Amino acid sequence: MEPVWTDVDDFFTQHLLPADDALSAAMETSVAEGLPPISVTPPQGKLLYLLARMCHARRILEIGTLGAYSTIWMARALPAGGTLITLEIDEHHADVARRNLSRAGLDDRVEVRLGRAADTLDAMRSDRVEPFDFIFVDADKASSDVYFEAALDLSHEGTVIVVDNVVRSGKVADAASTDPDIQGIRRMTERLATEPRVSATAIQTVGGKSYDGFLLGIVEGR
Ligand code: SAH
Ligand code: DHB
Ligand code: MG
Repeated sequence: MEPVWTDVDDFFTQHLLPADDALSAAMETSVAEGLPPISVTPPQGKLLYLLARMCHARRILEIGTLGAYSTIWMARALPAGGTLITLEIDEHHADVARRNLSRAGLDDRVEVRLGRAADTLDAMRSDRVEPFDFIFVDADKASSDVYFEAALDLSHEGTVIVVDNVVRSGKVADAASTDPDIQGIRRMTERLATEPRVSATAIQTVGGKSYDGFLLGIVEGR
């Protein structure tokens, strides 16, 4: 990783992101509990907050909770009465996430659902839950296409969908890659090429978490 990427993240974080006890504590607890250091960076967390605010999201869905660092950012964008549902397969991650959410004072707004996201999403489709306004896809990358399809089923016209980690240090450009994560991201992207209901782009990023990127889309019609 280029040190300047981290320096730039630090500079903007220092000036644009006020010190925040709940977010710092969530990060510290996640490290202490041995969770992998793969949450979004502070500037990316704030981007999620801003996007959720910009689309006036009242119902937010997250696929992949980890220690709820990104969850806390998004839940703070909710208006009174808004809700966020976040899906996690790992019991320990879910437990740490619930504690972090409770300390952040967000446990009244956020529900952590334990299980394989593919199963939880199927159940939500069968239950015909109210569609979500903002969806953040950030679990196992090999299933990106499956999650995007589910997100689309759980959306309405105007729903904003963000998919994290679609660049993976540039590996996404390798059509011959045998990495299941890369294959999943490529399948999702190829599927989007023939999906008239979604308008999307992808942006490469550098920063405290090296070289990656995210996909951003809006549901145009259904
Ligand atoms: N959104 C978090 C980071 C999520 S890391 C943040 O930015 O703070 C990815 C998470 O997805 C991990 O906690 C992992 O346990 C979870 N995950 C992996 N496979 C999953 C699956 N099949 N279903 C649900 N969650 C899964
Ligand atoms: C990984 C997962 C993430 O969600 C992320 O932001 C970075 C890395 C991973 O599984 O390696
Ligand atoms: Mg991620």
